Amino acid sequence: MNRLIINLIKKINKNLFKYLKSKFEFPPIIYKAVRYSVFAGGKRIRPVLLLLTAKSCGLSFKSVMPVACGIEMIHTYSLIHDDLPAMDDDDYRRGKLTSHKKFGEAIAILAGDALLTKAFETICYCRSFFSPDKIISVIKLIADAAGINGMVGGQVADILFENKPISKKTLQFIHSHKTGALIKASILSGAILSDAVDDKELKLWDKLGEIVGMIFQITDDILDITSTTKKLGKTAGKDIKQKKATFPAVYGLDRSKQIVSNLLLEAKKILYKIKKPTEDILNLIEFIANRKN
Ligand code: IPE
Ligand code: IPE
Ligand code: MG
Ligand code: MG
Ligand code: MG
Repeated sequence: MNRLIINLIKKINKNLFKYLKSKFEFPPIIYKAVRYSVFAGGKRIRPVLLLLTAKSCGLSFKSVMPVACGIEMIHTYSLIHDDLPAMDDDDYRRGKLTSHKKFGEAIAILAGDALLTKAFETICYCRSFFSPDKIISVIKLIADAAGINGMVGGQVADILFENKPISKKTLQFIHSHKTGALIKASILSGAILSDAVDDKELKLWDKLGEIVGMIFQITDDILDITSTTKKLGKTAGKDIKQKKATFPAVYGLDRSKQIVSNLLLEAKKILYKIKKPTEDILNLIEFIANRKN
């Protein structure tokens, strides 16, 4: 990660803290639970992708920061719920005990609910920079990506296909929805808020978002096998244990790594076609493909 990205992560964390603070924090436990998960040390890949795309489309970091923070809140909610006993039943996340292990299931469910709703309130704080039309389109984009046509749909398929034979098409559906949709929405949010992006270019950002989403989740599947619980901050080796539908399970480890390399090449080709400064974005995509946690 370069210096710009490290500084962006600091800014994101500062703003997340600001948006998650309330005058009257009652009952305190829910504020504690929300902060516990948000500030447990996530990589902030989605908000950074959003900020870098927005910048490359001519927008300031400040103007889109509420949207970037909103996306990170949605992502953190999805992790809290993904770890629940009824879902993946995980004990560790971001190097700490999972929310339900620390606060109990009821508070963990509610912390997730609180973050999902807080996200949309937070996104509205970009109103001093954008027209109501632009704000409505970004809210629609993100709601769609997080909901039944996106992440929630993918999570349902992920659970349904545990321990079942799976086709390549269904695997593609699961990955592009459970994780790909929110990553694609992070990139597209940065692009659609700008007036300097035409339909042709929007299609390129769309395709890039799709590819980065796949690179991200296939790498997550690979790391589950090749990395350790200590490095990942979450339990390694869980996918095989729970017989999850993953790329290594369907294609094998080597072929999965090859697919990531091919997708990275495709991403580079698209970035080349986008006639905007995209060096920092490429840097981040390479990090996503080569990361160790
Ligand atoms: C992990 O996402 C969960 C998936 C969607 C596969 P990240 O690897 O981005 O998790 P954090 O935010 O860095 O903890
Ligand atoms: C999680 O996918 C996707 C979402 C949280 C929406 P995984 O179940 O593979 O994520 P990890 O491996 O627990 O982080
Ligand atoms: Mg899961
Ligand atoms: Mg999981
Ligand atoms: Mg995983």
